[in-house]
Amino acid sequence: MKHDAIAVIDFGGQYAHLIATKVRRQNVLAKICQPEDPIEQFEAYKGIIISGSPALGSRGEESAYDKSIFSLDVPILGICFGHQEIARHYGGDIVYGGREWGRAELHLARPHPLFKGLEKVEQVWMSHFDSVAALGPDFEELGFSIQSNGGKRHGNAAIGSDKHRRYGFQFHPEVDDTVHGDQILANFLFEIAGCRPTWTMHQYVDEQVAAIRQKVGPGSVFLLASGGVDSTVAAKLIGQALGPDRLHLLHIDNGLMRKDESKTVMDRFRAMGLEKNLHFVDASEIFLDNLKGIVEPEKKREIIGNTFVHVFQKEAVRLGIEDHLLGQGTIYPDTIETGGTKRADTIKTHHNRVPLIEKMIAAGKVIEPLSDLYKVEVRELGEQLGIDRDVCWRHPFPGPGLGIRLLCATGQADMGDFNPFPAALREISARCGVQAQVLPIRSVGVKADVRSYEHPVLLSGTGTWQQFVAGASAVLSEVSGVNRCIYYVGSEPPKEVRALGATVTEERLDLLREVDFIVMQGLKTAGLYDRIWQCPTVLVPMEINGTGRELAIVRPIHSERAMTAAAAELPKSLIKVFQTQILPLPGISGLAIDLTSKPPGTIEWE
Ligand code: XMP
Repeated sequence: MKHDAIAVIDFGGQYAHLIATKVRRQNVLAKICQPEDPIEQFEAYKGIIISGSPALGSRGEESAYDKSIFSLDVPILGICFGHQEIARHYGGDIVYGGREWGRAELHLARPHPLFKGLEKVEQVWMSHFDSVAALGPDFEELGFSIQSNGGKRHGNAAIGSDKHRRYGFQFHPEVDDTVHGDQILANFLFEIAGCRPTWTMHQYVDEQVAAIRQKVGPGSVFLLASGGVDSTVAAKLIGQALGPDRLHLLHIDNGLMRKDESKTVMDRFRAMGLEKNLHFVDASEIFLDNLKGIVEPEKKREIIGNTFVHVFQKEAVRLGIEDHLLGQGTIYPDTIETGGTKRADTIKTHHNRVPLIEKMIAAGKVIEPLSDLYKVEVRELGEQLGIDRDVCWRHPFPGPGLGIRLLCATGQADMGDFNPFPAALREISARCGVQAQVLPIRSVGVKADVRSYEHPVLLSGTGTWQQFVAGASAVLSEVSGVNRCIYYVGSEPPKEVRALGATVTEERLDLLREVDFIVMQGLKTAGLYDRIWQCPTVLVPMEINGTGRELAIVRPIHSERAMTAAAAELPKSLIKVFQTQILPLPGISGLAIDLTSKPPGTIEWE
């Protein structure tokens, strides 16, 4: 190999691709490899990183890979599942237990080249069910962890054997919430594996322009352009490669857009000089018709994705351009969260990854020039292409739009013998000084690389932000069957909470559009829009104290690549604005703020 390179063995963890991206950012070539690749192939690498996995090593899952990888004279770093496998191979023990989600403190045992330049205590990011209970003879504990906000001590958060040159981290250095994760990875690359930083990021634009021209040949592209950051950057890039004559843009109003969004989007594409083949279809009626009566989130996602394709195909026929390639602004997280790599679990099916589109991809009918990138790279690319900074740094908005922010429910499914006050929750309420109850609805989340569909807990009372955050952290790590924590804005805990039946209707969408508009305006007026990565507003069909039908939930988060997220604190004055503007809206029964990190929640509720 011309450059020193690292092999990242992908066991299906949500972050395997992110590890490779982070290695490349250190100017070291990284390749994603599969556990079944021939062992000799790995000898050419300066180092190997074994990724996390949705599998549980404690239950013998994913145990069939070739262990002779550990006989190679190449340094190996294991992350999460990889860490546990290293511990076990060298005589240690893995147990099902010691789970941690989100932020934790890593306490280092002693100075070590892996931790060069770090403090004795570092903020790291955790997401695991299994843990390393005991180490083999040649290994030492290099650090233990304590879950942020005063959690328990967890041993073996970092382990190593200098004799074997094998190291393991229970935490994820590749995610942005591990504050000095880049430094830790750099230390493995340069201090342990001895890599030279000779690989530079090729001119991505030039590479992609050439790749687009080759794939499209003399044909042209019909791009689904929602107007979000990804489709706008994809449009600009494909336009640059093919010229405006061979690029058709289709903006579909699916009835799930934000207030006045479609008009703004069309104006923006015109301003970018892409008006020549710019098409618009108002398909709101078709989308709402297809979603009628549907409750299950994955079903809603599938219907929305399929309807996009049907409307697109009909429009292509009408315009006489049905032989064009379908263009999409798909980015990497869309693929991985849809279970798009061999072992990854399906967290949620992104609208651009429904089976109908997968079939078109297999038939070579789709072009997705951003599919290797994360949001932050797409934004950098957009700026490089000369797209306005304001557009590049807009909050992300999901393809299925407000359709997945309007929770639907039968109103009965979860009532049965549902217990809103389990013992574990009562104990946390007393310990943290906040009221807590489980809500009888469910939302989607991700725990240790696996999808969850579980209940939120509603915290209430007069506590401080810090008290609520500490309460949320305790609930999410200690109570099973729960994947979210929200706090109720109001001085009194709710007396009566009742789940109602609801599906996607125009009336509910209009209400959500109004609440979302108030939230967006509030963030902009408070000067917070740019400091918060994304702030979905969700409507949940839930009656509180006999008033209204909808609980409005605001979800402000900090993130960079959407693979992880932390709840962002809103100033009291802004919450007051939300209270005075949102609570009087007809149909609203209450307001809550989501405090959940990702994992165990996802950013969107469905
Ligand atoms: P989650 O909810 O999975 O979201 O944590 C991660 C990021 O992706 C966005 N998102 C989508 N974007 N099509 C998209 O284009 C989708 O189907 C989709 N689902 C989620 C979400 O808003 C967040 O920024």
